[in-house]
Amino acid sequence: MNELARMTAVKKSYDGKKQVLSGLDFSISLGETALIHGTSGCGKSTFLNIVGLLDSYSDGEYTFNGIPIIPKKLNSYYKQRAMDIGFVFQNYSLIDSISVRENILMPYLYNNQYIDKTVMINMDKLLEEFNIAELKNTKTSLLSGGERQRVAIIRAMIKNPKLIIADEPTGNLDETNSRLVFNAFKKIAERGTAVVAVTHNKHLSLGLGRTYTLEEGELRLC
Ligand SMILES: Nc1ncnc2c1ncn2[C@@H]1O[C@H](COP(=O)(O)OP(=O)(O)OP(=O)(O)O)[C@@H](O)[C@H]1O
Ligand SMILES: [Mg+2]
Repeated sequence: MNELARMTAVKKSYDGKKQVLSGLDFSISLGETALIHGTSGCGKSTFLNIVGLLDSYSDGEYTFNGIPIIPKKLNSYYKQRAMDIGFVFQNYSLIDSISVRENILMPYLYNNQYIDKTVMINMDKLLEEFNIAELKNTKTSLLSGGERQRVAIIRAMIKNPKLIIADEPTGNLDETNSRLVFNAFKKIAERGTAVVAVTHNKHLSLGLGRTYTLEEGELRLC
């Protein structure tokens, strides 16, 4: 498999205080999944933010898609962030007053990018795949939590990113909806996208990849 991201001995401390990550090693390939567990405050979101090029690290090395990521130049990776990485969060981050379709197309509307036929076809395919095709023109405020999260996942997928990052994506969902969301992630990985997801729920599994516990600033295989 094609390696997409590799971290070697990555350290992170905020404002020079206590180290949150203390020499963490991690790698993921296209089509692979990584599920991260860990107690509250152990550094899971910190780790995800670094993987997703949203935050810098203090020491070590990080290579994403063949590019060595230099912490001081984080702002220069906006293209990788916009094109190669899709983000999914616990609170969905959708706009309630507009339709499912408009939310999904937001990454294009936001950047004033032309939406061609391929994008629309891709959207319809994803809506079918995640069983919410009939909700396409529905106002997002009318959706259930599980439906909302699937919309958020499709929005993250619409630009065919190489990596999906999900921080507690099922934190607000019941068991049934959590499974639907995780099944969606499995499908995403089968399409060749890498998925890194953090969850408190130990019953959920992504099936295709590794499960880690983040402990004492390092990732340990479960
Ligand atoms: N911007 C920040 N400035 C200073 N300290 C921070 C910052 N962000 C996180 N921290 C601290 O770093 C540690 C790890 O936080 P992080 O949010 O990564 O944990 P987490 O594992 O995601 O927790 P949770 O499961 O509650 O979401 C915590 O002690 C937190 O207080
Ligand atoms: Mg967190």
